[in-house]
Amino acid sequence: MHKTFWRFIDDNATFVAENPDKISRLYFPLANESGIMSSIAPNLHGNIKTGQHSFLTVPVSTEDLNNTMYNRNFWLYAEGRGAWSVAFGESDETLVEAGFLWHKVIKINKTLGIKVEVLNFIPAEDEPVELMSIEVTNVSKKKLKLTPTLAVPIYARSADNLRDHRHVTSLLNRIELNKYGVTVTPTMSFDERGHKINKLSYFVFGIQGNADLPEGGFPTLAEFTGEGGNLGKPEAVLKNKAPGKKSNVGSQGKEAMGAVRFKTLSIAPGKSMKYIAAMGVTESSPEKIFKKFNSSEKLNRALAFNKKYWVEKSQKVYFSTDDKDFDRLMKWVAVQPVFRKIFGCSFLPDFDYGRGGRGWRDLWQDLLTILLIHPDQARAMIINNFEGVRPDGSNATIIGKNQAEFIPDRNNISRTWMDHGLWPLVTLNLYINQSGDRDILFEKAGFFESDRIDTVLEHILAEHRRPFTKIGKHGNFLLEGADWNDGLDMARENGESVAFTAAYAGNLFDLASLLEKINYKKEIISDLLRKAEGLASHIRKDEWLKVKSGYSFFNGYYDNLGHRVEGDHKDGVRMTLTGQVFPIMSGVATDEQVDEIYRSAKQYLWDKRLKGFRLNTDFKEIQPNLGRAFGFSYGEKENGAFFSHMNVMLAYALYKRGFVREGHEVINSIGNMCLNTGISKIYPGIPEYFNSEGRGMYHYLTGSASWFLFTMLTQVFGVRGDMGSLAIDPKLMKSQFGKSKKISVNTTFAGKTIRVNYFNPDNLDYGEYKIGNISINGKAVKILPVKREEFFGLAGKALNIIDVQLV
Ligand code: G1P
Repeated sequence: MHKTFWRFIDDNATFVAENPDKISRLYFPLANESGIMSSIAPNLHGNIKTGQHSFLTVPVSTEDLNNTMYNRNFWLYAEGRGAWSVAFGESDETLVEAGFLWHKVIKINKTLGIKVEVLNFIPAEDEPVELMSIEVTNVSKKKLKLTPTLAVPIYARSADNLRDHRHVTSLLNRIELNKYGVTVTPTMSFDERGHKINKLSYFVFGIQGNADLPEGGFPTLAEFTGEGGNLGKPEAVLKNKAPGKKSNVGSQGKEAMGAVRFKTLSIAPGKSMKYIAAMGVTESSPEKIFKKFNSSEKLNRALAFNKKYWVEKSQKVYFSTDDKDFDRLMKWVAVQPVFRKIFGCSFLPDFDYGRGGRGWRDLWQDLLTILLIHPDQARAMIINNFEGVRPDGSNATIIGKNQAEFIPDRNNISRTWMDHGLWPLVTLNLYINQSGDRDILFEKAGFFESDRIDTVLEHILAEHRRPFTKIGKHGNFLLEGADWNDGLDMARENGESVAFTAAYAGNLFDLASLLEKINYKKEIISDLLRKAEGLASHIRKDEWLKVKSGYSFFNGYYDNLGHRVEGDHKDGVRMTLTGQVFPIMSGVATDEQVDEIYRSAKQYLWDKRLKGFRLNTDFKEIQPNLGRAFGFSYGEKENGAFFSHMNVMLAYALYKRGFVREGHEVINSIGNMCLNTGISKIYPGIPEYFNSEGRGMYHYLTGSASWFLFTMLTQVFGVRGDMGSLAIDPKLMKSQFGKSKKISVNTTFAGKTIRVNYFNPDNLDYGEYKIGNISINGKAVKILPVKREEFFGLAGKALNIIDVQLV
């Protein structure tokens, strides 16, 4: 059993957390695919925005969630008892219930006799609005006279103005108090390089569930808090002041406040009252948007649609094993790549950096899952993304929300990440194998910052030619700006990444084999193989280390002084996980070397308390000739954390090489940390890393999610494409079957929904079983992989059952 502070309550992976307000830093994402993004914490903190320059509420970092007051709130003034709010009020019990993709907080205050349920979601119908429904119940034995006030501070500007011209930008605010609430339409958006006329309106509207209009509002922060008050002690509520009904000139050019006052009501014991709030950002009419949701009935309809929409997404690929928690966890993991498509690597509380958009490697890796769950959308996306490659094989590093928007670099610092050229082929290779669509190699695409147009294959070749023009003195590709590890960014001139030289060698082997399968020009194939073998034999021989203790592994890097990074050192053995993962994945490491590596990693990188591999050993000093990562304290982020992405890639590499027991140990180590939330303290999903205490950090937006799902499906369950045919190649351990001796995966293949059931009647372990009878919808299949035509012939149902006997 896993020790979680929440528990799953159904197969849709809905969960309930008891008193999650006792845990700091928790947040949950809400979003829709048109681009409105929110985060929400148990105290309703978090924020709402549509981009870097359009924050409805104040930008927040994780630390703000418990330490600042600029959040969503709902106040109740109880006659004779005083004021209480959902965000700040004491409660005897707090529950959070959340699912795809909604978040409900339930707070009970027994002294006041009130129970409040606040439900938030962003309608999947693509309106730029977050909806919030509030239900207040009298749980006391007496009648309560309550005056409710919705209270959401409206920031209405760019995150850049949080410090830069905070006051001056408030002068641009034009604030309107109307019958539903408050709209702010700043006159301009402030940018000293050239101010722009602003067209966006930011609004906070409210209505009673039975469609009764609010009494009025307090549209500025000053009116709401009063002189000397604050958001935690707002005079308007504490003194139960009468609200304004119309905008007045005194409201202009001020910090705005979405404070909406509702009618005072008496509620009998056991009775409830309901409210609806809408918080949005739009160039069109806020009223029009609000009218779609301004009654309990309309809101419930939108909620039902929303749930269905996201549940379907979470179940495009799902597993049914003996461990129900794990299966449900994977449903959250499956939607994380979609979250990153929406949020980029910015806009959740841990992700308080960047200005939106996604990095090049992130874009391609998220596509691994997106092409498994939406194969129909993948082709166009892939071809489009190749337009980010320059003729010299380098690429744009940021890709905007709009897929066609390529940006050379986030901060106008020109940098090349030496690993960037290899991710597109990893994704393309999966796509071609899944679909059999070899023609994509010969589709035409433009090049970034150039008029040249050429085939996808030419783009790939350019990406693999480039590193050969950047070879360091030890025969490996230069590290340049950094590699996968963004923190190795101080060895630009002479640093070398052996790790990613091995990865490129693997890609050259893969490309050669892909081209062989389509009978492409033999001289190109032999050139690729010659290059791949040259790199592989060099690494295998020259970079293989034996340390004094007798352990062996690969050196992964050279620093800017040309010094080898790994091996024996006066402060102890130095080793990186990255330096091992890519020689394994690429086939550069021999089987004997893989054995040795795993033993060494267990010795030097395994954290006995967290039971997982760290990214590196403790170098015990900063590395100004290698990178900023070593400036971080040990065990954090790129300096030796239990980093999910590298661990999942390790698992993938081990499975791919047939080291199933080891791969399984790594997969389990990650799953266990995600689920042992007594330590990792996160909601379901996989975080970027677990820090030295084991806390899950940078939750939701991580490339590890895509790799986790992809590894489980194509390696552990072994359901994958082989040039369009269906391969079935399970690498399952006995322990994964449990009592039922059967496990399954549901996925899509060739546009058909399939469920693959593995039966293991004799309880055999990996290595003991082989594949026996296979049938598709009851009809026997003789030869694997199942040819695409044969598959189409047999898989004509809405859900196609593939039964596989392990004997
Ligand atoms: C993050 C970045 C990724 C980078 C990695 C290591 O990892 O998004 O681009 O390679 O740090 O520096 P993620 O958790 O997304 O895999």
